[in-house]
Amino acid sequence: MTAEPNQMESVLLENRHFEPPSEFAKNALIGDSDQYRKLYERSIKEPEAFWAEAAEELHWFKKWDSVLDESEAPVYKWFSGARTNLCYNCVDRHLEGPDRNKAAIIWEGEPGDSRVLTYQDLHREVCKFANGLKEIGIKKGDRVALYLPMIPELVLAVLACARIGAVHTVIFAGFSADSIRDRVNDCAAKCVITSDGGWRRGKVLGLKNIVDEAVEGVASVTDVVIVKRGQGDPLPCHLKEGRDRWYHDLVQDQSVDCPCEEMEAEDLLFLLYTSGTTGKPKGIVHTTAGYMLFTYLTTKYIFDYKPEDVYWCTADVGWITGHSYIVYGPMANAATQIIYEGAPNYPNNGRFWEIVEKYRVSIFYTAPTAIRAFMKWGDEWLEAHDLSSLRLLGTVGEPINPEAWIWYHKVVGGERCPIVDTWWQTETGGHMLTPVPGATATKPGCATLPFLGIEPAVLSEEGEEVDAGILAIKKPWPGMLRGIYGDNQRFKDTYWCKWGGKYYFPGDGARIDQDGYYWILGRVDDVVNVSGHRIGTAELESVFVEHPDVAESAVVGVPHEIKGQGLFAFVTVIEGRDYDEKLRAELVTMIDKGIGKFARPEHILFSSDLPKTRSGKIMRRLLRDIAEGKELGNTTTLADPDVVRHLRKQFEENTK
Ligand code: PRX
Repeated sequence: MTAEPNQMESVLLENRHFEPPSEFAKNALIGDSDQYRKLYERSIKEPEAFWAEAAEELHWFKKWDSVLDESEAPVYKWFSGARTNLCYNCVDRHLEGPDRNKAAIIWEGEPGDSRVLTYQDLHREVCKFANGLKEIGIKKGDRVALYLPMIPELVLAVLACARIGAVHTVIFAGFSADSIRDRVNDCAAKCVITSDGGWRRGKVLGLKNIVDEAVEGVASVTDVVIVKRGQGDPLPCHLKEGRDRWYHDLVQDQSVDCPCEEMEAEDLLFLLYTSGTTGKPKGIVHTTAGYMLFTYLTTKYIFDYKPEDVYWCTADVGWITGHSYIVYGPMANAATQIIYEGAPNYPNNGRFWEIVEKYRVSIFYTAPTAIRAFMKWGDEWLEAHDLSSLRLLGTVGEPINPEAWIWYHKVVGGERCPIVDTWWQTETGGHMLTPVPGATATKPGCATLPFLGIEPAVLSEEGEEVDAGILAIKKPWPGMLRGIYGDNQRFKDTYWCKWGGKYYFPGDGARIDQDGYYWILGRVDDVVNVSGHRIGTAELESVFVEHPDVAESAVVGVPHEIKGQGLFAFVTVIEGRDYDEKLRAELVTMIDKGIGKFARPEHILFSSDLPKTRSGKIMRRLLRDIAEGKELGNTTTLADPDVVRHLRKQFEENTK
């Protein structure tokens, strides 16, 4: 298991607990543990009645014939026979009442420019965008790739696709041209929506030029739409005749009326590519009705959402957190939310707190990696701002160390805000293990208890309930993935490979304590969590071996103070090739180009061989020990024990 033993220790020693603050609990939607327990028991005993009742809060063109259809398990079907539309539920539904002129998005650009869009504005802009997409021939079921910075048009584009039934696949704007091409090819996207550029740490990054490189020669892409990010002149972009056009030209004369496509419950909503244990990213499939209900309900209860809240999730829409908890969940709840374009430390380390103060943010959702960076930058950046509007804090993406949790609680939350440590995944669609803020006593570093309707267990390989082992989810839930795009076998092999295919296998280790609380111990596979982003080590290895002088490579995760985990690469070169700084630089450039700068390893260690078993399997466990400078574990199964001795020596020489 990749879970770090030292992390496990600190978790085991952690026995502080914090009751929900009484002021908070008094007004909470679920205000005590009894209420949670009753709701939970009902959701498990009568799941279909529970989910059907919750679904009544949303809009349906036609109601369902059945709530859950297990006939094609593990492809579970939810709300069969129903017809609905996510965009209708996130926008149109709010136009009938007092929410129509409520701010939906309060956007702040990194240079300080800002825009506010009410729900009515959103409706108008989304309709025009959707009509524009129709004009260029996008129809229900077509795939549209979005490669955009965190600007309102990213949300508009997502909603416009949902409105007409086009399948969006958002590609995080830090990915390289090669990564875009892989994704666009995998789903045969017809259209790519991008922008001239976006701001990051005081610089404008060009995006359209990266898209040009990515889609060159890709036959499926017939259209590229370019959003002009700024007010002034756009960045210089080459517009390819017959393929490329500006967004503002496309939408200018479009009607503000665009009826929502009536989507079947299991119609595809989006694909989101995520890393796995092989070099090829997986297109995670999410469909319409179940995902809608799950993101709506988790947002409502886990953020204890109230109409007067100002909500801010700092994730990027390019990751699942942005899909579920920027676009769909909050908007289905008619939330007012902040969207910020840029870096947390631009123009200084206090930027986030300035935003919290300026807009009186009440719900703040971020990642442990950001919290660790804030801690390091120092409390003075927070003390300079009034953070008294905050009433609830959240974290997601990786285990949060208890020290970081306590700091978040004290310095950001002023000891009055509950913290929801939400464990979930791209595949689960929404929160699975999490405190309910008015009801669950929290423990630093612990994702605590299951959300309503979720039945987890900690199992051994053999399927016995154990205190520490592999996390399993025993029952289907509406937000679950429905597949891996175009690869049903991989879907089964990855997620339903254990326990006779009966339970969902998320790939995480977990521990259950005496109170029945779940502690996540990290991944059990070769996936590393860098700054809350899953990176398959096999993806990096495949990039390295593309270099003509590289024979073999193995990448492992190592603890990292800010990022949670960093990447450590072992690379063997072909006979006769000397390894030098030039090769190192070439390899780094290849990662930048092959995946994106965010996947750069912390270290590259060259060696003449890698430790292998007699059957030729690379022993990653030993590589992790070496990369962490730890005592080596059992080496008896090694084909050649000299290899590790040599590597250890090299590690010591290189990291002195
Ligand atoms: O290992 C778990 C970790 O992140 C993985 C999911 O990554 P991804 O699909 O990119 O989604 C991230 C945002 C939902 C999980 O398998 N993880 C996520 N949240 C937590 C976590 N580990 C511990 N505690 C969490 N709260």
